[in-house]
Amino acid sequence: MPTPLPAVRPRRLRSSPLLRQLVRETELRPSDFVLPLFVRPGTGIRNEIASMPGNYQLSPDTLLDEIGSAKDLGIRSFMLFGIPARKDPEGRVALESDGIVQTALRAVRKAFGHEVYLLADECLCEYTDHGHCGVLHEVRPGVPDVDNDATLPLLVEQCVSHARSGADMVAPSGMTDGMVAAIRAGLDAAGFAAMPIMSYSAKYASGFYGPFRDAAESPPQFGDRNTYQMDPANSDEAMREVALDVAEGADIVMVKPALSYLDIIRRVKDRFGLPVAAYNVSGEFAMVKAAARNGWIDERRVTLEILTSIKRAGAGIILTYHAKDAARWLAGG
Ligand code: PBG
Repeated sequence: MPTPLPAVRPRRLRSSPLLRQLVRETELRPSDFVLPLFVRPGTGIRNEIASMPGNYQLSPDTLLDEIGSAKDLGIRSFMLFGIPARKDPEGRVALESDGIVQTALRAVRKAFGHEVYLLADECLCEYTDHGHCGVLHEVRPGVPDVDNDATLPLLVEQCVSHARSGADMVAPSGMTDGMVAAIRAGLDAAGFAAMPIMSYSAKYASGFYGPFRDAAESPPQFGDRNTYQMDPANSDEAMREVALDVAEGADIVMVKPALSYLDIIRRVKDRFGLPVAAYNVSGEFAMVKAAARNGWIDERRVTLEILTSIKRAGAGIILTYHAKDAARWLAGG
């Protein structure tokens, strides 16, 4: 008996670089990326974040340089996070028209007009002295927790203030129930009916946020975020969260983190069909950088593979600290 030979040969379509390119299903572009940036009051500040090489705490002036160089690489969308000069129990400084994100938004808008697209992260954790994502109340004697409904008006005010300062889109990240509906109503009432909302709809209580909390100086001072962020073990619950946000008027929904949640990204994309964003978070970034610095992985290859996997899973928008490197590599640099 001669060995039967295959009539169907998938390898035929892998036989040359040009053919592989012809049949490639997923292609990354710099315009897929949103670069998160951290801004703090002052001038001339450019503090590299130890666990996030190539990412900095910037002041509004150096922020302009950073955005300019990213723009030259083809990155046009940016997400701003603020590190305020002072914090208080309610995160009031987040709402002030001369707050750090408001100031930065105006500076970037003035320098770049509408050549760049500006998203503002909407959460109180960087502004509260306790580091939680809203105001607190006691749910039982001695047991503080985020007061969901008391937090909503503050989030609305923060969004409206950012809208007035020039944000193009608001991105609430606090996992507060009803936040999208409240913000939608607040924006509409303030004359911003056309402003889109990208909700951090399925945001998990994740260990991968470690480096971010150093970057944004926002770690919870006690406890954890398990009463508002999702249990990493849950998938159906993510569908419920996304369905609620869609019903409340979210224009784009986000899954966060990205890499350990590719299954969630795919489920959301298949089920809801609206634009899906994924946040390739600080810990995911730091692991790649650390391994690359040790010579254990090929940084370029691994980074592009990770970003491609996130897009292939269904996220057309990728928030990533790799944005500048990736754009450079995609351009052949
Ligand atoms: C909260 C917020 C966090 C991140 C983005 N928005 C931190 C948290 O929930 O503790 C994390 C992003 C990252 O790790 O890169 N406002």
